[in-house]
Amino acid sequence: MAASRKTALALAFFCFLCCNAFLPTSASSDSFLQCLSSMMPSGLVFQQSSSSFVSVLQSSVQNPKFVTNTTVRPLCIITASDVSHVQAAVRCGRWNGVRLRMRSGGHDYEGLSYRSVQPEVFAVLDLAKLRGVHVIPGEDSAWVDAGTTLGELYYAVGTTNPGFLFPGGACATVGVSGFISGGGIGLMMRKYGVGGDNVVDAKIVNANGDVLDRAGMGEDLFWAIRGGGGESFGVVVAWRVKLSKVPPTVTVVNTIKTLEQGAADVLAKWETIILQPAFVPDLTVRVVLQVRQAFFQTLFLGGCSDLVTTLHNVFPELGVTAADCNEMSWLRAMTFIYFGRTDVPAEALLNRTNNLGNYFKSKSDYVRRPVGKATWESLYQQWLSRNGGGQMILEPHGAAVGGANTLTNSPYPHRRGVLYNIQYGSNWCCDANGTNAAAALGWLNGLYGFMQPFVSSNPREAFANYRDLDLGQNVVGQDGVSSFWSGRVWAQRYFMGNYWRLAAVKSMVDPSDYFRNEQSIPPFR
Ligand SMILES: Cc1cc2nc3c(=O)[nH]c(=O)nc-3n(C[C@H](O)[C@H](O)[C@H](O)COP(=O)(O)OP(=O)(O)OC[C@H]3O[C@@H](n4cnc5c(N)ncnc54)[C@H](O)[C@@H]3O)c2cc1C
Ligand SMILES: *[C@@H]1O[C@H](CO)[C@@H](O)[C@H](O)[C@H]1NC(C)=O
Ligand SMILES: *[C@@H]1O[C@H](CO)[C@@H](O)[C@H](O)[C@H]1NC(C)=O
Ligand SMILES: *[C@@H]1O[C@H](CO)[C@@H](O)[C@H](O)[C@H]1NC(C)=O
Repeated sequence: MAASRKTALALAFFCFLCCNAFLPTSASSDSFLQCLSSMMPSGLVFQQSSSSFVSVLQSSVQNPKFVTNTTVRPLCIITASDVSHVQAAVRCGRWNGVRLRMRSGGHDYEGLSYRSVQPEVFAVLDLAKLRGVHVIPGEDSAWVDAGTTLGELYYAVGTTNPGFLFPGGACATVGVSGFISGGGIGLMMRKYGVGGDNVVDAKIVNANGDVLDRAGMGEDLFWAIRGGGGESFGVVVAWRVKLSKVPPTVTVVNTIKTLEQGAADVLAKWETIILQPAFVPDLTVRVVLQVRQAFFQTLFLGGCSDLVTTLHNVFPELGVTAADCNEMSWLRAMTFIYFGRTDVPAEALLNRTNNLGNYFKSKSDYVRRPVGKATWESLYQQWLSRNGGGQMILEPHGAAVGGANTLTNSPYPHRRGVLYNIQYGSNWCCDANGTNAAAALGWLNGLYGFMQPFVSSNPREAFANYRDLDLGQNVVGQDGVSSFWSGRVWAQRYFMGNYWRLAAVKSMVDPSDYFRNEQSIPPFR
């Protein structure tokens, strides 16, 4: 074994010196698998021949679109349960020219954490076993292992450290790692900023297989991993997240307005108040538009009477009264927001079982000036009321998330002047690439075209966490490295001016472009 490791080391050195390009062959696949088996328990590695391969591969997949028989599958899945397994996977991968796709919660909208668009030899490094939250009562931070879900984090904080919160998203099964590394937006960001703004330390395994904390990786890399995309810089194995104080009681309210009840008027008012000081950071009103209605989801970090007073001043059109309030702990509110019911126990946030029923495709936009009542009306008439499976989710920005994007902030660039993010979604059943898929995608693209005059432009901004391969894919040059100019096409829309700094960080930490996928940050050229 010592001899094979020596050979591997020599090979690694050779590769490092004379070539950036990895040309995976079956021979390198074999030595990759041998390398893994010499460095970790064999029960952690699932090859395609294993009877569990398909179930392990699908364990956290959210979109059946990417479990077809034409989906490009990994050579194997490495289910790391210790940081040393992650180091071994990176080292074996680099020595043998096999790339890794890291997977934490598996929610990537294009499935890039477990599939490749083009035929390629790669391995999935699944981190679901590497999970745990280390919370100390009264402390305003907690270490979270990379494979933890938001629901598991909420549960640990809410039960062990009540009085504190982590400002995450609405969906409990989303992985903390993908959420933070793509920015991370949610119902508490107006008060506390995006997910990436709420990290104080991290541990990453770099392209050499070394484990670095914040001091070891330096501030540039620490900045980049908090919103610059998870796939480009290394494998994050743990985050130290900042926890913030929350009152013992918060208030949630769900309100529905149909078109007949003036949904378009209420939306037209909603979009004009977001940046007003009276729309306080403690107050968030998110909206889901579907068919002929607008569903307003309100979270207020305080009690019902303060909420009713605040809404009466700033947004009386919503018509919320004390009778509409649900007062509860922050943990119960996170449960309510995800499940839509007050009778679901908080333990349900721990359920990681995926539901593979829903074929979907999403796109995103940012709005910087109100679109106005007439546009809301035509949107409903021409688009929403014509597709029962389509919806738009509007997430208000402003307040803390709208501050200037200074060096102390994370790379999330959609800040000052942004009113809200739009997520367009289209759901269908049950073909990955048939007539239903074509109809659903045709609708989505038509809606996206319709909205173009009303949303941000030059660039038309998009949210990195709502990954959309229609925006562009990297082209790999003859030197085996993703081209900076091909990356610019899509990355300027996710990262705006921060693309250049992210690419400069990439040049420093992974110039040979080992950590890459179809939308990873290329090195600066
Ligand atoms: C139902 C649903 C609801 C959502 N709601 C929200 C929301 O409210 N707010 C929001 O901001 N986003 C939301 N998203 C988007 C979500 O944040 C992104 O899809 C995110 O990337 C998912 O993280 P994950 O760990 O589950 O995904 P994965 O598919 O595991 O990973 C996503 C990307 O990150 C990389 N990655 C994963 N783990 C690591 C790691 N440890 N180190 C380095 N790179 C890593 C992967 O390689 C991949 O490129 C939602 C998605 C879904 C499907
Ligand atoms: C792929 O799957 C479809 C339906 O699941 C099936 O009809 C088809 O025969 C499969 N193709 C191959 C090449 O296995
Ligand atoms: C866990 O979630 C899955 C998928 O949504 C669901 O089918 C199942 O019933 C849930 N299990 C429990 C115990 O709630
Ligand atoms: C979908 O089907 C079309 C036409 O049959 C084909 O050209 C295309 O490559 C398919 N796409 C995928 C992702 O399979």
